[in-house]
Amino acid sequence: MNVLDQASGDGWAAFNCDTVEFTAEMPESSIDLSVFSPPFSSLYIYSDSERDMGNVSSHDEFFVAYRHLARDLFRVTRPGRLCAIHVKDLVYYSNSSAKGDRGLYSFTSDCIRAHVEEGWTFHRQVTVWRCPVKEMQKTKADRLLYKHFREDAARTGGGMPEYILVFRKWSEGMEGVAPVLHPPADFPLDVWQEWASPVWMDTRETDVLNVGAKGDEERHLCPMPLDLTRRLVLQYTNAGETVYSPFLGIGSEGVVSVRNGRKFLGTELKPEYWQLACRHLREAERNRVAGDLFGAAA
Ligand SMILES: C[S@@+](CC[C@H](N)C(=O)[O-])C[C@H]1O[C@@H](n2cnc3c(N)ncnc32)[C@H](O)[C@@H]1O
Repeated sequence: MNVLDQASGDGWAAFNCDTVEFTAEMPESSIDLSVFSPPFSSLYIYSDSERDMGNVSSHDEFFVAYRHLARDLFRVTRPGRLCAIHVKDLVYYSNSSAKGDRGLYSFTSDCIRAHVEEGWTFHRQVTVWRCPVKEMQKTKADRLLYKHFREDAARTGGGMPEYILVFRKWSEGMEGVAPVLHPPADFPLDVWQEWASPVWMDTRETDVLNVGAKGDEERHLCPMPLDLTRRLVLQYTNAGETVYSPFLGIGSEGVVSVRNGRKFLGTELKPEYWQLACRHLREAERNRVAGDLFGAAA
């Protein structure tokens, strides 16, 4: 396996490598939760590496590699435990359509299909509300313009939510795996009711590690929001368990895991992102230690 670089700290390890190769060599049933944002097919090209799963010419090409990963994630996950992914559907335009139309490609449905066909049980879907006005200001998308709404509303669409998809490894040995337990003092009924909602209205797309980026530091194109990640890590793992992100980026899933007393393992292909992730993980480790010293909650 071709690991270009690696770093570790107290309770975490990060590898600069191709995740498909790496995950294929991970031991069976060694992960309690995987949580990540995959590359959204060809929406963003992160690097010119042919192993960059965003550097593909078609959705089919993306899913060839993604299915290998989904299969190995199933193998490395402990029975009864979960894989949670953050995705959205993609807009396409006339210039990339053989038919010359514009519309939506349901990346979400293809992700569900890929996981289910690779052995996972589809367990949960959360819709994450995002503001259509901000989306219009950011993308100037034709389908969101009030001008078009007045000229011909049939041209207009609506805002694009994000989704959390959760898959479960429903397999032999589930009964023998420790349950995930939450003391009611830490998770009262109202927290559970909020988190159990099928639509999360109150999370912030700006709650990302990039916000603190300094000067010419490389900004990640689409980091996973920390608040979404935190809910998933806290709901679906016990303290001390192992969380894996195959697409570490600048380290969001790792930072949340380390801050909250979970062990963490991550892989990232792009060296610049991997270096930033290691810096963020070291900071999270220091803050966790300081938090412990002063008795503060992580
Ligand atoms: C949606 S981003 C993940 C962002 C990350 N969750 C964060 O918050 O920073 C997808 C990441 O996958 C990485 N990637 C693409 N192909 C990969 C591969 N074959 N192995 C490992 N990482 C890969 C990209 O470089 C990119 O950073």
